[in-house]
Formats: sequence, structure tokens, C-alpha cells
Amino acid sequence: TPTGGVGSGALTFKPIPPNRLDTLVVPNGYDHAVVIKWGDPVVPDAPEFRVHGQTAAAQAKQFGYNNDFVGVLPIDRKRALLVVNHEYTNEDLMFPGFTGLDALSVEQLRVAMAAHGMSVVELERVESTGQWRPVRNGRRYNRRVTALATKFELTGPAAGSAWLCTAADPKGRTVIGTLNNCAGGVTPWGTVLSGEENFNQYFVGGDAAPEALKPKLARYGIPTDVRYPSGSRKWDRADERVDLAKHPNEAHRFGWIVEIDPFDPDSKPRKHTALGRFKHEGANVIVAKDGRVVAYMGDDERFDYLYKFVSDKKFMSGSSTVARRHNLTLLESGTLYVAALEGNSAAEIDGTGTLPTDGAFDGRGRWIKLVSGNRSYVDGMTAADVLTFTRLAADKVGATKMDRPEDVEPSELTGKVYVALTNNTDRGKAGKAPADEANPRNLNKHGQILELVEDRGDNTAESFAWSLPIVCGDPTDPSTHFAGYDKSKVSPISCPDNVAFDTTGNLWIATDGNALGSNDGLFATALEGPERGHLKQFLTVPYGAETCGPFITKDNRSVFVAVQHPGEITGATVENPASTWPDGDFAKPAVVVTWRLDGGPIGS
Ligand code: FEO
Ligand code: CA
Ligand code: CA
Ligand code: CA
Repeated sequence: TPTGGVGSGALTFKPIPPNRLDTLVVPNGYDHAVVIKWGDPVVPDAPEFRVHGQTAAAQAKQFGYNNDFVGVLPIDRKRALLVVNHEYTNEDLMFPGFTGLDALSVEQLRVAMAAHGMSVVELERVESTGQWRPVRNGRRYNRRVTALATKFELTGPAAGSAWLCTAADPKGRTVIGTLNNCAGGVTPWGTVLSGEENFNQYFVGGDAAPEALKPKLARYGIPTDVRYPSGSRKWDRADERVDLAKHPNEAHRFGWIVEIDPFDPDSKPRKHTALGRFKHEGANVIVAKDGRVVAYMGDDERFDYLYKFVSDKKFMSGSSTVARRHNLTLLESGTLYVAALEGNSAAEIDGTGTLPTDGAFDGRGRWIKLVSGNRSYVDGMTAADVLTFTRLAADKVGATKMDRPEDVEPSELTGKVYVALTNNTDRGKAGKAPADEANPRNLNKHGQILELVEDRGDNTAESFAWSLPIVCGDPTDPSTHFAGYDKSKVSPISCPDNVAFDTTGNLWIATDGNALGSNDGLFATALEGPERGHLKQFLTVPYGAETCGPFITKDNRSVFVAVQHPGEITGATVENPASTWPDGDFAKPAVVVTWRLDGGPIGS
């Protein structure tokens, strides 16, 4: 039991040291197992995985590639639904004999499209431990959502607007596919939200898009001077929808928050326009004191913004059909805000990480209203304009340019909100915004964690206080900060990406792109009391991978992580892999569960 209040639960595990091993490492006293990996059957009649001659039809029934978000939604004490995002594909690590995207067959491009999306997989507990495994032939709920075929309904004020209409969908209400689903969240009503992030890389032909549209495409990272930007996935040979020369509005149909109801396998997933369109990392919802729901969201790009959405309607508790149906409409109408932050210290932040004169990176902030229902608060833009081109709206109102806002999650126990600001190596460069108190380092390689406390403890408030409990890096680097905790006792951390909470309210942080040269991993720290800032490394992922997911079950017995892109090293292939995890042959992204051997609570 925690002593000293919420978020101060004992994290007594022995931290693991940084390493570059091609294996998953957990602390002494813990075990781990792969739950499901790329190619495993999801839909009951899925064919066996074959890396040679893989087909789109097979992939559309099997677990997709590059698992990112992980949610585990209990059915009962012994069964649960695993919901996972498949963000993107590494064709070089998927197709034997890979010699470049141009040499892939159309069928292989379709395999890649089918390997994107989401999976829903029924799990069962293994005996009475914290280990979980897929139910064999999970027929009732198992489902694949893909970029290839799944239909989505657009909801909210921008649905049906001219921006979202295409030749194939003249009403602007139905989209095929979801792209680059990164992080997400489990809602209080038992659905899953998923962020469509770097959708720009799937579109080609920006050079031939209508002139009036080009600045809008460019603000979303779609180059308008070449047909194939560098990093393009070149899917146009498989699906002409991604060719903006032919279908200029198609790109506007991605970059939304998706909601899926995993308990209703026949339901059509939805894209909620009321939550705005940007490179959505994810969305996490909390029920505010007055019953309205608040979704916190980050736009993962250097110098982009932090957002929140407040629903019009109130959450209805209970599991009745009426409550369920009502709650499914909560994200269809409300108010979208963007954040402006100000520091409070007299000293100029010099970028070396020297603490401000008042001893803390902290200050005040306000939520700037962009749109409420159908009413726009941005000059010269309609509500549909603001929601479809949210970045352009936020540019106009003086929002604060942040260091790549990744996961943004409120703690259910305290209502405080935690933001992973992963890094921003362009901060302070010529012509770019310089360091400020919330983004305190120029050429920021390692990122920081921001804590946001809404005024009056009200998540619908329009003003807040903020601070930086952790400024990441090697603790011997003077620019780091661990809430004042003894730096000789904390683990080095770089590039925070996803965050989660255990049931005592400790913060767990997964990293992506460790700029300290070791493998990525998972860390935990207390948030309140004397242990605040005592960050310890809990897990490392295999070589070349990033750590995604993290999800801690409500009974505090299991930690799930997604091992994304193991062996993603330039020049690596199926035949010559940089990682052979998890099977010893070639790299496969997989979801892993870890638990304490003695069945005790995780973290201790
Ligand atoms: Fe897909 Fe922002 O990480
Ligand atoms: Ca300060
Ligand atoms: Ca991420
Ligand atoms: Ca990432």
C-alpha cells in the first residue's frame, strides 16, 4: 500500500542498467512473455504466417506490423480485450529480397496497407499470474482494422464539409482506412481512441494539387514541389486515392482521432472531427467534476501544440444500453482549445538547464478557445476550416510552440495532466523559436515531462499552472532535472514518448529514440511525496526498437509494452537482420507482458 498519498506508491524494484542487448530485459524477480507478434492469427480463419509470399488477404487477418498503442479492457477477471495500433511498416524488414519500394509488387504494397491499422484480440489470464495470452480462435471480438478496407464514419461539425468530399465519397462522411495510428487511450466508457499521426507520408502528387490548397498541405508536412517527397511510401501504384493530383481532398480525411468500440465487432469505427485535425499522437479522456469529458491531445511535430477538447454532454455512468449509446456520442460535439504557456521566472532561460531564479521550471497557462460546436473563434475561418486545418488556426491565436508533444495523459487519481515532450533538435536554430521556460533547452535532444494542473482542479478550466518535473538526459548532464531528487540515484532517460499510470498513480514513461546511445525502455517514478523525481528504469526493449504502449492493468499485476520496429537499422533486411528478436530468425514487432514471479504488485 502506498504511504504518503496518491502517486507515491513504493517503486522498490532494482533498476536495470542501460544496455544495447538484442533482448527484452526486466528487473530481478520479474518474468515476461510475448503475447502476440506480427503475423500471428487474429481473425479465426487467419492462415499461417509466411514471410515468403505473404498476401494482403492473409495479412488482413493476422496481427499487423509495428504495434504502438496498447489497451487492455477487462471482460471479467480472467479475460480481456487487447486493442493495439499498427502505426507503420518497415518494408525492408518485411519482404525477403527487398531492394526498394519501387521494386515491390502491387500485392506487396497491399500487404503493407493491410499491416497498418488496429487489432482487437481476446486474451485470457495464464493461471492466476499476471501473464496473459490470446484465446485460441477468439471468435466473438477478434477483429482487424486496416488501411486497405475498413470503413470509418466521420462525425462532428466538419463531417460532410466541402473539405472532406471526394469523388468516391461525395457526401464527405465515409473514409476507407486509417493511417499511422500512434498512441491512444481507453475511454471511461470502454472504447479506444487512436491518433492518426504522420499521415502526410502516404500522399503523393502534392506538386499537382490545386494552388489554393498547397499552403494547407505544406503546413501538414506534404511537400508541394515534388510528386514523391523523400520518405514517401509510394502507395499510389496500389491505390490512386493517395494521389493528390487526382484526389486533392483525400489527405484531409486523415489526421483525426479515431474511436473504436472493441466490444461491438460489427460497429463502424469513427473519426471525430470535433477533436481537430493534426498529427495526433493520441487522446486521453478524463471525466471532469461536472461530468463533461475532457480529452487531452498532442500534435507531435517540432514547434507544434498541446490541445484539449471539452464535451458538451455529460458522461453517463453504468453499463446500461442507454448509457453506452449516450457515451458513444460524447466526442461528437464540444469545444476545442489550444494551450499558451508562460514562464514565471525573472531570469532568462539560457538553454544550459540552469534552474530559473525561482528554482523551478514553472508558470501559468491558458486554454485558447478555437471552436465550440459550429462556432469558430478564429478570424477568417469557419468551424469546419478550424477543425480541418487546426494547425493553421492555432498558428493565428498565439499558442505556444512546444518540443514535440507526444502522449498527454491525465492521472485519474489526481486530475493532473502529464505531457511527454520528446525532443526538439531545431529549438533555437536560426529563424526558429528559442528556448523558453517550458521548453528550456535549445537543440533539445532528450526532451522533458510537463505537469499541468488545471485551476480549481477542474479539467474544464480555461487556465492552469504547469511545471517540468523531469528534464531528461544523463543525470550527470547539468541541464537535467529530476524534481530536485538526488541525481546520483536516478536512471538516465532520453526522448519520452508514451506515458501511463499504475493504480497507485506512479508515472510510467516509455522512450523512443534514446539519444544517449542505449536501447529504449520503460521507466517509473513517483509523482507526489519525497520520492517524486526518483526515476528508475524498469525495462529495456531489444536492439533498434522503441518502447510503446505501456499499459498497466487495473489489478496492478501486469505491465504490457509494445516492442515497435525491432532491428530498424539502415541496411538491415529479413536475410541480414539487425535484430533477431523474438524468435531468433528475423525481427518481428510484438506485444509483451511482464509480471512479478511471486504475483505481487508491479513496481515493488
Ligand atoms: Fe508515432 Fe509521435 O510517435
Ligand atoms: Ca519558474
Ligand atoms: Ca509515439
Ligand atoms: Ca514513436
